[in-house]
Amino acid sequence: MDDLMNRLNQAKAYIEKQIGDRQIYAGLILGSGLGAMAEDIADPVFIPYKDIPFFPVSTAPGHAGRLVIGELEGKTVMCLQGRFHYYEGYSMDIIAFPVQVMKLLGVQRLIVTNAAGCVNRAWEPGNLMLITDHIKLIPDCPLRGKNESSLGLRFFDMSKAYDPELAQIAREQAKSLGIPLKEGVYMFFAGPNFETPAEVRAAAILGADAVGMSTVPEVIAAAHCGIRTVGISCMTNMAAGILSQTLNEEEVIETGNRVRGQFSALIRSIIRTF
Ligand code: HPA
Repeated sequence: MDDLMNRLNQAKAYIEKQIGDRQIYAGLILGSGLGAMAEDIADPVFIPYKDIPFFPVSTAPGHAGRLVIGELEGKTVMCLQGRFHYYEGYSMDIIAFPVQVMKLLGVQRLIVTNAAGCVNRAWEPGNLMLITDHIKLIPDCPLRGKNESSLGLRFFDMSKAYDPELAQIAREQAKSLGIPLKEGVYMFFAGPNFETPAEVRAAAILGADAVGMSTVPEVIAAAHCGIRTVGISCMTNMAAGILSQTLNEEEVIETGNRVRGQFSALIRSIIRTF
């Protein structure tokens, strides 16, 4: 058996041993600001990443680094509490591994959220954006290297990586909750530096509405193995150069906290509906 499938199957078998015959309905990968939602999962099974064979381990101090599997809005979800970022030094295939494990566990839907810098000048910090597409110009890719054909095709389509039906559910749920939901394109930057003002101007010219340092590796992995994905970004700050002020992490955290209630209501309502 191929080495990747061997590693994935060992991770899968370990997780199955912990959760019994619970069938996981949706995967959740939550960005900064929304991680606390994992605490709302009822009847939870916690599985530390370090106990799962071949699973990456979070290096950031104070980060939970565990899977939380349990009930949210009446659905069984598997949440990564502690996400893996490229800027932390993980290779893209490592970031993809948990998504591929989800696939083997039968997960068919994935919700990803993130904090992002707002490139669209008509918007403001605190706005939520349904991700309709992304741009990744750095050459690295989680599927670079030998293709595992039991997961997906060597050359795979990305035109519905952000699933149109799930997007429609997100629109409808936002509307019924009275939450204004923008829509746009998320552009991936490797970080950990914030973008330069010139990079942000370039992103706008290329068609980006938001910039950020996460999500895209996971979404590419999900598209490869056929997991349907919906992504929502929180515009935590205007991207570099748009305002005269400099960027800092405090603003990102503050805005994230300010809209957390809205953001989690929307995510819950999407889970309830799909
Ligand atoms: N750039 C990249 N990532 C981010 C930003 C930003 O301005 N804000 C929050 N995450």
